Amino acid sequence: MNDITEELQRLAGKFVVFDGPDGCGKTTQMKLLIAKLEEAGVKIRRLREPGGTPIGEQVRELLLSTKNEGMNVRCEMLLYMASRAQLVQQEIRPALAAGECVVADRFASSTLAYQGGGGGMKVKDILEVAKIAVDGTWPDLTVLFDLDTDVAMGRLNWLNALPMFADMAVKDRIEQRARDYFERVRENYRWQAKQWPQRYRIVDAGQGIPQVEKQVMKVLRDFFAK
Ligand code: TYD
Repeated sequence: MNDITEELQRLAGKFVVFDGPDGCGKTTQMKLLIAKLEEAGVKIRRLREPGGTPIGEQVRELLLSTKNEGMNVRCEMLLYMASRAQLVQQEIRPALAAGECVVADRFASSTLAYQGGGGGMKVKDILEVAKIAVDGTWPDLTVLFDLDTDVAMGRLNWLNALPMFADMAVKDRIEQRARDYFERVRENYRWQAKQWPQRYRIVDAGQGIPQVEKQVMKVLRDFFAK
């Protein structure tokens, strides 16, 4: 067995979250990591938020539909948490108990950044609800993909302008918000990484895909080193 395989196998039974602003490339990086984990023989439960369960997917539709423009930030926060509560009980806990590696696209860190940083809710209030929703199941590690707001928004706008994506790449309710909202989201993510240095690692998502992948691998190897 080579070193990398052995190192990746240490992720069995661990809960890892990939998070960051829209357009940061975390979903691409998740796919790359999962391919590596599968190669190393690690069983994986890949999840996305909001959603990841049939109930959560229905909540996702409510949250992201542009029909729901009038949604209040408190209602928004509670719906994200409701979807998360279902995900924790139905997917995350059983997977961890079975020794699988749970890799989640977003978690409570997104609610802190978007509804807290972006939407202006108090961190303390969000954390109180998060405690109820996650019921003690916090990620072992949150990998934060940090990216300049203009670059992130540029990536989204570019995708939306491509004719081949004309039918699907329309921005959702959250993605339609203004630049200063996303700047506050980014600042909140960076604040979280400073606040909980033992559970967060930042990667520079402004680099090319292979370079970001290298950073992610280094973070995981170092974090889960013996
Ligand atoms: P999605 O299409 O899944 O975006 P991405 O691929 O970037 O993860 O949509 C999720 C949107 O919901 C995204 O704009 C971030 C937002 N969001 C919150 O505002 N709060 C949350 O707690 C979560 C999980 C997501």
